[in-house]
Amino acid sequence: MTADAAGAVREGFRRVHGGSPEGVWAAPGRVNLIGEHTDYNDGFALPMALPQAVVVAARRRGDGLLRLHSAQGGAAATAVLRVEDLAPGATEGWARYPAGVVWALRERGLAVGGADVYLDSTVPAGAGLSSSAALECAVAVAYDELYGLGMARPELARAAQHAENAYAGVPCGVMDQMASVCCAGGHALHLDSRSLEVRQVPFDLAGHGLRLLVLDTRVKHDLADGAYAALRAGCERAARLLGLPALRDLDGAGLPAALTRLPGELVPLVRHVVTENARVGRAVAELAAGRPEALGPLLTEGHASLRDDYGASCAETDLAVAAAVAAGALGARMTGGGFGGSVIALVRAGEAADVAAAVAEAFAAAGRAAPAVLEAVPSPGARRIG
Ligand code: GLA
Repeated sequence: MTADAAGAVREGFRRVHGGSPEGVWAAPGRVNLIGEHTDYNDGFALPMALPQAVVVAARRRGDGLLRLHSAQGGAAATAVLRVEDLAPGATEGWARYPAGVVWALRERGLAVGGADVYLDSTVPAGAGLSSSAALECAVAVAYDELYGLGMARPELARAAQHAENAYAGVPCGVMDQMASVCCAGGHALHLDSRSLEVRQVPFDLAGHGLRLLVLDTRVKHDLADGAYAALRAGCERAARLLGLPALRDLDGAGLPAALTRLPGELVPLVRHVVTENARVGRAVAELAAGRPEALGPLLTEGHASLRDDYGASCAETDLAVAAAVAAGALGARMTGGGFGGSVIALVRAGEAADVAAAVAEAFAAAGRAAPAVLEAVPSPGARRIG
């Protein structure tokens, strides 16, 4: 995120609201390397921030109005809300996310008022790259500084998650928001979703002759929201039946006995969560040992688990993974909630173009438009940029 981005957003702010903002902040989207559908089980994940981000320019207002403008908002680009009237269900469309953050801060008893807010985003929406978390976190860091809240990063992530759960009505875990506020450039983030402890793990792709491609299938299946909630409910039911606070409290050693105590439909869910948490540990060990290429087989194994056990994949993400691996990718998997969205593929730098072309060909043969290709470069988390 450059001074140019900050300048462009300042200019947008001036055009819409007049005058200058008090500051400009950015919060990134993410890909998750491994540790999928583990966060709401209090488990582990290993996301990294993308260069693509939401940029926000903001200035406090003394009259209790929240004037929001999104460069991506189209015909509904502007929303004017009274801060004291914010309530779940009271806001529609994209404005639910920034308004939800202001509501969530007030729910925490924090004395925050109105603001003029101008938003612009380079995070593709609906691609499983956490564009909504980036939007929430950009507003959260801006408000934290504007209103002198002095909140710790995990608290900001919790407030942003609260906005998404209670205000936008999406029952997500905390990974996307933690990634957006806590990631560091050149690193992946080892996240413990129970304690919210994080560890920065060096992830030097270029230094090892590697690239991480993001293949956005540009499909999002209608069942996605309901299916996510159903999977989450299934995990919570399994934990209750096993007498555990969360599936995080089951490890590989206890898994075989635990599976005999569960109804058949919960067995594959639990197997995914337990093996996935273990894969996060293995991935972190490989990165810490300076072997990022060893991530490849773990990615492909994780995808098979999401596809066969967890049922969170779909034909398009399966096709992208299979085609990437067949074309020489070291490994590939769906990333994010699933049922569409994006696949990540770890490739040798010199083979990136061939892998992308092979995936495009496989999609053409299946009568589908080629995925959009981005490159994932481990980037910094939310911060002030102007
Ligand atoms: C979505 C949710 C996250 C997480 C992932 C799956 O991205 O927002 O909280 O549950 O799905 O790992």
